[in-house]
Amino acid sequence: MACQWRFIIWLFYISQVSADSGSISNVTGESNGTTFVEETIFTVPDDYDDTTKPGSPGVLLDVNCTAYISKLGPFSDKDMEFYISFVLLCGWKDERLPGSYNQRVMVDESKKKKIWRPNIWPMVHAKILKREDLLYPVLHPGSVVYLMQRFDFEVPCLMQLYTYPHDRQICSFILGFVGGIKVRWEPSPYFQSDSPIIISMPNVRPVFQIDKVDFNSFTLNVQSYGDTCIYQSGSCDYSGYADCIKMGIKCFKAENLNTTACLNCLQMGGKCKQQNPSQDCSPYLNKVNLVGDFHTTLEVRFALSRSLSYQILHTYVPSFFVVAISWVSFWLDPASVPARTGLGVTTVLTMVTLSTKVRPAPELNYIRAIDVWVISCKIFVVLALLEYAFVNYATRQTSKAPKSQQRTEDDGEVEKSFVANEDSLDGTSLQQLPGITFTGYQMAKKLDYVSRFVFPAAYIAFVATYFGVFTSSDRYQ
Ligand SMILES: *[C@@H]1O[C@H](CO)[C@@H](O)[C@H](O)[C@H]1NC(C)=O
Ligand SMILES: *[C@@H]1O[C@H](CO)[C@@H](O)[C@H](O)[C@H]1NC(C)=O
Ligand SMILES: *[C@@H]1O[C@H](CO)[C@@H](O)[C@H](O)[C@H]1NC(C)=O
Ligand SMILES: *[C@@H]1O[C@H](CO)[C@@H](O)[C@H](O)[C@H]1NC(C)=O
Repeated sequence: MACQWRFIIWLFYISQVSADSGSISNVTGESNGTTFVEETIFTVPDDYDDTTKPGSPGVLLDVNCTAYISKLGPFSDKDMEFYISFVLLCGWKDERLPGSYNQRVMVDESKKKKIWRPNIWPMVHAKILKREDLLYPVLHPGSVVYLMQRFDFEVPCLMQLYTYPHDRQICSFILGFVGGIKVRWEPSPYFQSDSPIIISMPNVRPVFQIDKVDFNSFTLNVQSYGDTCIYQSGSCDYSGYADCIKMGIKCFKAENLNTTACLNCLQMGGKCKQQNPSQDCSPYLNKVNLVGDFHTTLEVRFALSRSLSYQILHTYVPSFFVVAISWVSFWLDPASVPARTGLGVTTVLTMVTLSTKVRPAPELNYIRAIDVWVISCKIFVVLALLEYAFVNYATRQTSKAPKSQQRTEDDGEVEKSFVANEDSLDGTSLQQLPGITFTGYQMAKKLDYVSRFVFPAAYIAFVATYFGVFTSSDRYQ
């Protein structure tokens, strides 16, 4: 469905382009008495050689490209890869094509020859799911050709999940070009934005948010990595896009398409700035025609930070409350065995259930932040249960002593001895009973009393440390 909508948006967009170009035939009209002719289709001549690159041999051909990212995600933690669908719009000058038109014309490749186009493929081991020319090439005044190609890739992205779900990831894709081409990221006349990387924000999977997009153009020699040289780089800031996520599907409705908010979200370019070229790559670029393994490459790097709402709702808040509920036990009478064991065991079991909902990552051989959280919460509820084991043991020390004195097995008697002991706690009769009984029961009460403060304090200290450590680190891995 979303796919169809994207197509419609493209049609919508293209219709604007072709409206500029006039109708698709020779139209003769009159305007202010002057006659004009519009020719809107250029058919590639038979003698056109589509195997050699335009321009003089030995001279690099400048190719300017813009990426329109129409879909980003899903990102898979398990397979360590992400899905990306984008339109690459590249423009170059081909002087073999006429430059006399004063407006854009369509290049008709359907019947006869095709025009030359750069050979592009993903560097890294991306899986190409789809690759197609999106539309006919368009010839602009001055023999500049623009071609839109759509690529669907599955690109590996080795994620470091130590701080999951507070992690930030860098995922990138690299495109390679061969054969004497100097390719650069440049904004294109086809988009309103002056950014070379345009993202359709409602189509970005919300599991991550895009903080920043870095782009680079560099030389790469597959035979010798020493020939790598960055000749263009820049960075786009995408921090102000939260509103677009909220717009979501609204922007795929025909009546909202022309609103400024939706146009900005569907073609979001971020705030980009080019960095001044740090290196002069001309010695490397001159090798282009000499070595077949020499490529110029375009790289896009997404700096992503994970959205926390899911984990907060489904892990942090529930487990926090389960641990807090386990402290209720310290306020209950040490003698109410069913209440306190029931509470203790229930909180432990609830924690176990909650922990199974946190997706395990057996393929990682390290502990993630979320695992630390879950294990710590389990330890806290287990300690609360163990605390009662001690308390109960201590109280039984109390009740045994009077029992043996009175030589009775009756529960009622035990109960009475409890009451007696409790009453006598602040009474003067303290000295009359054996010291051991009071020490045990007092210890139990004291342990409960101390636990009421120690457990919450320790847990809050843990929570503060946990969030302090994992949310403060701003750096990307
Ligand atoms: C369009 O006009 C050009 C001359 O301006 C002519 O050569 C060409 O044959 C015309 N094409 C059509 C389809 O009429
Ligand atoms: C056509 O007419 C309009 C006003 O009707 C005028 O502004 C414009 O300059 C004219 N164009 C030419 C090419 O004469
Ligand atoms: C490519 O971009 C550069 C820098 O903006 C510009 O000078 C050049 O004319 C562009 N080339 C094409 C073919 O659009
Ligand atoms: C969008 O188009 C509708 C008609 O389809 C029109 O009423 C509205 O004013 C347009 N909005 C903008 C911002 O252009």
